[in-house]
Amino acid sequence: MKAVLIPGDGIGREIAQSVRAVSEALDTGILWQEFAAGAEYAAVEGELLQPGLLDAIEECGWALKGPTATPIGKGFRSINVQLRQRFATYANLRPVHTLPGVKSRYDNVDIVIVRENTEDLYKGIEYKLNDDIANGVKLITRPACDKICRFAFDYARKNGRKKVTAVHKANIMKLTDGLFLSVFRDVATEYPDIAVDDVIIDALCMKLVQKPEQFDVLVAPNLYGDIISDLCAGLVGGLGFAPSANIGDATRIYEAVHGSAPDIAGQDKANPSAILMAFAMMLNDLGMTEKAERLNRAIYDQTAEGKVVTADVGGTAGTKAFTAALIRRL
Ligand code: NAI
Repeated sequence: MKAVLIPGDGIGREIAQSVRAVSEALDTGILWQEFAAGAEYAAVEGELLQPGLLDAIEECGWALKGPTATPIGKGFRSINVQLRQRFATYANLRPVHTLPGVKSRYDNVDIVIVRENTEDLYKGIEYKLNDDIANGVKLITRPACDKICRFAFDYARKNGRKKVTAVHKANIMKLTDGLFLSVFRDVATEYPDIAVDDVIIDALCMKLVQKPEQFDVLVAPNLYGDIISDLCAGLVGGLGFAPSANIGDATRIYEAVHGSAPDIAGQDKANPSAILMAFAMMLNDLGMTEKAERLNRAIYDQTAEGKVVTADVGGTAGTKAFTAALIRRL
């Protein structure tokens, strides 16, 4: 099968190389169609996306994306926002769990964040009334709430999760977050096998840092989902091991949560674990569950052992050595 690979900027090419090597070692049969995108491509070609990229994603429906930078103040729209809107990837899925060998404050976090990806304050409806007053619209619609809540419950059911918690601020934003919460409660009645809960966003932040193990699947409108995703990544030791998937009806785009790390780009220092964990999510969705599990297990074991790990987790191995050791393990 075909899938699109977008290495992106900075460390993107190095970690994309790891993906190709691991994909071959696992004998996935994936034929990668590689396209350039990002600030480095724009500096040469004057546009952010290599021609043919969007059509290729449209055609095969699967993409793995490295980090991309958007040139600031040059009129370019973020690639991530462009891809989300063009392919209507309405759900952003971020599993976050503790990994042995990765320093963190907790040893028992296992949370999945389901973030609505298309509306809320990220819709981009902003205007200025005058020089001193700017207004932004928080757009929440019943169909989008229904879709994301169903996605969260279906995910919970399919993955043996016990509880789904809605994140909101309906006590203050009675109409917008109120709509989200009321749709969540309606949808929940169709899933009697899953426990249901809801929590106000500020209280959630406190509870997450005090006792994160009480949460299972969290479903949230766009802005809250964005913020708590990074908060949760911080609970388990940062962005180095944070994968995500952007899921639409016809298209799925997987990526590492971290950025292009310009400070270490081209130096064989990047940790490819997050993009490889995103690749494992992709393999899982493609039905290659055994290969996905094998890949995740190899990353966890290699990290826990701590002998061949990159500098961000206290090691001395480069991206290439890490990948070679991982492949031996596979
Ligand atoms: P960053 O995540 O690139 O870097 C933050 C720190 O983490 C740096 O010290 C970096 O060296 C380190 N780091 C990140 N990934 C690493 C990895 N795989 N292995 C080892 N160390 C790693 O965040 P920053 O510096 O805020 O952003 C840099 C650029 O990336 C910006 O242009 C930003 O817009 C873009 N970006 C793109 C994203 C995407 O395409 N999904 C997400 C976040 C940022």
